[in-house]
Amino acid sequence: MLIFACPKGYYESNGLNLHLIMSFTEEINRRRTFAIIAHPDAGKTTLTEKLLLFGGAIHTAGAVKSNKIKKATTSDFMEIEKQRGISVSTSVMAFDYKNYKVNILDTPGHEDFAEDTYRTLTAVDSVIMVIDCVKGVEPQTRKLLEVCRMRNTPVIVFINKMDREGRNPFDLLDEIEKELKIKVLPLTWPIGIGKSFKGVYNLYEKTLNLFQGDSKTTVEESLQITDLNNGEIEKYINKDFADQLRADVELISGVYDKLDKQKYLEGYISPVFFGSAVNNFGINELLDCFVEIAPGPQQRETESGIIKPDDKKFSGFIFKIHANLDPKHRDRIAFLRIVSGTFERNKYYHQVRTDKDLRFSNPTAFMAQQKSIIDEAYPGDVIGLYDAGNFKIGDTLTEGVNFNFKGIPSFSPELFRYVNNMDPMKTKQLQKGLEQLTDEGVAQLFTKKVDGRKIIGTVGALQFEVIQHRLKAEYNATANFDQLNLYKALWITCDDKKKLDAFVADRAAHIAYDKEQRLVFLAESAWLLQMAQEKFPDIKFHVKSEY
Ligand code: G4P
Repeated sequence: MLIFACPKGYYESNGLNLHLIMSFTEEINRRRTFAIIAHPDAGKTTLTEKLLLFGGAIHTAGAVKSNKIKKATTSDFMEIEKQRGISVSTSVMAFDYKNYKVNILDTPGHEDFAEDTYRTLTAVDSVIMVIDCVKGVEPQTRKLLEVCRMRNTPVIVFINKMDREGRNPFDLLDEIEKELKIKVLPLTWPIGIGKSFKGVYNLYEKTLNLFQGDSKTTVEESLQITDLNNGEIEKYINKDFADQLRADVELISGVYDKLDKQKYLEGYISPVFFGSAVNNFGINELLDCFVEIAPGPQQRETESGIIKPDDKKFSGFIFKIHANLDPKHRDRIAFLRIVSGTFERNKYYHQVRTDKDLRFSNPTAFMAQQKSIIDEAYPGDVIGLYDAGNFKIGDTLTEGVNFNFKGIPSFSPELFRYVNNMDPMKTKQLQKGLEQLTDEGVAQLFTKKVDGRKIIGTVGALQFEVIQHRLKAEYNATANFDQLNLYKALWITCDDKKKLDAFVADRAAHIAYDKEQRLVFLAESAWLLQMAQEKFPDIKFHVKSEY
């Protein structure tokens, strides 16, 4: 290997190619790890695909469609599981754009898998939220944004489907601010909407991009129009649209402040772009601005302090585990987000929870649609580790040090069922199956204090079928479920142990333990929860397992 010094840095050559050798800090700073979130059908899959197209990572449209769980099959959970299997390859989609390495983490569109999405949001540094301009803010957008707000994740908004007869853009921005409780700042502005959609004006670059409906080709160039008042714009759009644009821009400058990048990075303000993903429109502006302003790999909190990405020692955490669908192959893929240092293939790393040292001979990176074994990975990257059952969601891996990352909480499930063992000869198998499936994050497992009955909690109804099927197929255990009407399962704490004991004794029938033996209150209704809160004001009720 030859090393050359050039003005831009050092290059290495293997005789065929020259590669720029980047420093560790450069590798960190060029990474952008994010997720696209949206209510189903708003255009998340289409936008993901277009970003990959613009980034040069794929060359044909339709390549990403496999990550989509089609609505038509919602009743067929096997089909959904199959599609989830395909989606291993779309769990992370990485590509190089300009000098950046962009890592898109996929979030399942199906609402039954919302818990997966929540956890994925712990592994990203920012998000792009897609909103359908016809439908505005929808229920899932609201829920996802709440999760972002808990962590002050920076959000960029993409208002999609401007080629359809949507709402007035000012009304949409108002609705986003009110419903999602975030402050927005438009960076581009639409000219017309639906059939009369003409294009967008970039408020900061002062450029005009004209929409070429139906051609679905990239907009070739943007026109520099620094002064909207000198009549030049009328060469491209008619006077009515030009007048409307001038009036809108004047209003915008009176209502919205200039972009303060710091406020965006702290999660206080969300830049907004308008476009039409299916028509490739508005994507360039979004991507160019995104790589420039979105945060690089962020520091993460542990129980014993902060870990910064440029700390030399490797550390990371598991935020997602994907089971192999073939029951003959029990292996799983655990997804690791690298927080600090350099991950190296075949090096021993410490699994803090089990106090074991593990080595990975074929860690996998995901470049667009390609999987490949990698030798090294950097903070911000997500890699897949083949796992025979060692990992649990939330596990921390380090270079020998003992600490655990915070921030991979469980959220209160929304649906609950009692588990009945239908085959007493297979009690151990059922126990093991429930432990492992819940380690994977398929659902949460609680044990009632009074009688030891097992309760499964999920976000979507489909998960019960998935669990029942997988228990039989993979563990040879037969279970069925009894209905259990609960409002929420809330983790409880109190500074005064005596008061906590008194509460637990008073509500014994409604107390359970989670898998980590933490106390949980099973609230049957919002009203009963409120009663408990009023009677025991010192008890803290938490909707997530980390408080
Ligand atoms: P999702 O992942 O958020 O669920 O949404 P997805 O991208 O699959 O988009 C949902 C539907 O909206 C798709 O139509 C897609 O083509 C369409 N769509 C996406 N962006 C735009 C846009 O800018 N304008 C318009 N008019 N439509 C858009 P579909 O009929 O459900 O699927 P397909 O048959 O087109 O694949």
